[in-house]
Amino acid sequence: MWALTVSVILALGAAGLAEPLKFLDCGSKDGSISEVNVSPCPVQPCLLHKGVNYSVNVTFSSKIESQGSQAKVYGEMLHVDIPFPLEQPDGCKCGITCPIEKGRSYSYLNKLPVKSEYPSIKLIVKWELLDDEGQMLFCWKIPVQITS
Ligand SMILES: *[C@@H]1O[C@H](CO)[C@@H](O)[C@H](O)[C@H]1NC(C)=O
Ligand SMILES: *[C@@H]1O[C@H](CO)[C@@H](O)[C@H](O)[C@H]1NC(C)=O
Repeated sequence: MWALTVSVILALGAAGLAEPLKFLDCGSKDGSISEVNVSPCPVQPCLLHKGVNYSVNVTFSSKIESQGSQAKVYGEMLHVDIPFPLEQPDGCKCGITCPIEKGRSYSYLNKLPVKSEYPSIKLIVKWELLDDEGQMLFCWKIPVQITS
């Protein structure tokens, strides 16, 4: 039974089927998150290998209207937020059709490039998407481990 469970989990992981992650909501106010996926991440905390681009898919619904949306990503260590530069910070170029409508559901798609020069450490990834008012459409956090 155990072996079967393990092989099913391995098969799902190998197939790259994105399982929704457990995440901490860090103050989504103008939206509500229904699902966060980081792929591939078969087991949590996510092991992020250097030199790999991870895909991020956040499904959320908006409680407001907004012309635009901007993402901010941080690496959090010892309660300090270190800004992480995104190649594409414009949420409207990441799977979201803008203007954002109240009550609609969206899937935000971006990638998380893990550069080879990053240190091998544990940290918390914090991802925010801000609306026109600078309020958070979503904010989620997950612990990760960077590894070679
Ligand atoms: C990751 O993305 C960057 C920037 O788009 C690209 O230059 C690089 O080749 C990608 N790396 C891999 C392993 O796909
Ligand atoms: C993003 O996640 C949603 C919810 O699971 C899913 O319906 C959608 O197909 C995903 N999009 C991509 C491009 O993986």
